[in-house]
Amino acid sequence: MKNILFLFILSLVFTGCAEKNEQDDTAIPNDSAWWKQGVVYQIYPRSFKDTDGDGVGDLKGIIEKLDYIKSLGVTMVWINPIYSSPNADNGYDISDYRSIMEEFGTMEDFDVLLDGLHQRDIKFVMDVVVNHSSNQHEWFKESRSSRDNPYRDYYHWWPAEKGKPPYRYSLFDAAGDAWKYDSITNAYYLHYFSKEQPDLKWENPKVRQEVYELMKFWAEKGVDGFRLDAFQFAAKDTTYPEFPDDLEENFIQYYAMQPGLHDFLKEMNQEVFSKYEVMSVAEGAGRNFKEAHELVDADRNELNMAYAFEGVDIAKPEGYSLIHFKEVFSRWDKEFAEKGWLAVFLANHDQARLVSRFGNDDPRYRAAAAKMLNTFILTMRGTPYCYYGDELGMTNIGFDSISQYRDIAALNGYEKTKASGGDLDAYLTNLKFASRDNGRTPMQWNNTPHAGFTTGDPWLPVNNNYKTVNVVVQEHDANSVLNYFKKAVKLRKDNPLLVYGAYTLLLPEHEKIYAYTREWEGKKMLVLLNFSSEMVPLPVPVNEELEEVLLNNYEQVIYEEGVFSLQPYQALVYSLQP
Ligand code: GLC
Repeated sequence: MKNILFLFILSLVFTGCAEKNEQDDTAIPNDSAWWKQGVVYQIYPRSFKDTDGDGVGDLKGIIEKLDYIKSLGVTMVWINPIYSSPNADNGYDISDYRSIMEEFGTMEDFDVLLDGLHQRDIKFVMDVVVNHSSNQHEWFKESRSSRDNPYRDYYHWWPAEKGKPPYRYSLFDAAGDAWKYDSITNAYYLHYFSKEQPDLKWENPKVRQEVYELMKFWAEKGVDGFRLDAFQFAAKDTTYPEFPDDLEENFIQYYAMQPGLHDFLKEMNQEVFSKYEVMSVAEGAGRNFKEAHELVDADRNELNMAYAFEGVDIAKPEGYSLIHFKEVFSRWDKEFAEKGWLAVFLANHDQARLVSRFGNDDPRYRAAAAKMLNTFILTMRGTPYCYYGDELGMTNIGFDSISQYRDIAALNGYEKTKASGGDLDAYLTNLKFASRDNGRTPMQWNNTPHAGFTTGDPWLPVNNNYKTVNVVVQEHDANSVLNYFKKAVKLRKDNPLLVYGAYTLLLPEHEKIYAYTREWEGKKMLVLLNFSSEMVPLPVPVNEELEEVLLNNYEQVIYEEGVFSLQPYQALVYSLQP
């Protein structure tokens, strides 16, 4: 770079500025709520911390790490399902909604955990999986036992004497077929996910009451929020009409937001949400903006927020276009600028690791890229959802053989590809990049065997990089991804501007830089994110004077005569002169 000789090294001057921002919440909008101002930390309990040596994480493990969670600065914890389950889909197949999975512990452990979170001012969000139950749930056992059983109508059945039911695509089935024949009553039952996950029949008011009662059970215990799993699929046309041939490619169009869904949500709101101080978030935000608004606009009394997939789905093994990425996030922001509220996330338990998908997990860039992506999540409008391990920059494990995978979606997808004569190499290549197991490897606590996750054999192997990528190493390194993450969370919490402020995209056509401002109550911040592994010259894209560096994932800011040289995956957040 020709300007290297004339660098202005600004960063040290500004070290520690983030700490100076004390929260000023005098002018928070009237519709403000704790769940808007919060930062969510998502824990995949199977993989967080094992205390009994069975290789599976447990509630006592989360309890042991409560101070760690608190140290992150997060204000809400969402834990994936912890109910009794035969674990066909790692807890997303529930056999008893009022008890704790044996592998995870006991109800006493749960009470201690909830209390421990509350003592630390952290809210708890419970995962509610009620589009379907486990096929081992008592309701289903009853339902399948005879056609006139009182629970028969808790699920969707098609009598076989009417012939085969109209085709339904299943996301997880090894044959792709969502109707499973059951000889006991000579009928087919419906399962949009695996055959171990029969869909509950929401059109039956008794099913709905059962669900509200179980939600109240947890609300009475003191949980602070509910995440509704796959709920946009819950309503179904129970005449089961034929769907067009493009069902498999476009199943969302046919399955999501069917008539009746909003009535169910309004009823749930009335029966449960309105009676407790709880937050509600749905997986899926409908098929278009209108539907997304209908789910979350406050005056409709349905849900508080939803999360959409368009942004997170952009990453592909062959890469992705930053211009497209910016366009998608900006479009969603604009649509919800006045009304409604959304979640902001780039990873969860259904995705591979954030830094491997959206950044760069080459050891040269991993740390900078992880910090940069965390900066993005924590400086956008909407509630940030941060997935366990991403605060360290954990990476994809990248299995080579199907025998290494544990995820039912990966395993059954392989069977399906094989049975249909598909390209198994291509399937495995895609899985190596995108598999959910990539995002489920054990938390990397320290450099002892299995990264300190377990003293036994972990249910899924620990990533080989645990000796360098782990909590202990990063706690002792002032420049680690972890310490940067904590600063970024603090900046977010100290500045309502980052929660409520208007977002404006700058340089929409820039292929490497994502630049935007956030503006609120006469204050303004500039966010500059280099999404590339190159040094990128960038003239200051705003007219205002730069005031302070609030976040920088490098030690230096390289800047000369109005032009930055952004280092690979550099993230900078500035306050601007009013
Ligand atoms: C949701 C969950 C996913 C699960 C599926 C079936 O998409 O996030 O993990 O496999 O629903 O419950």
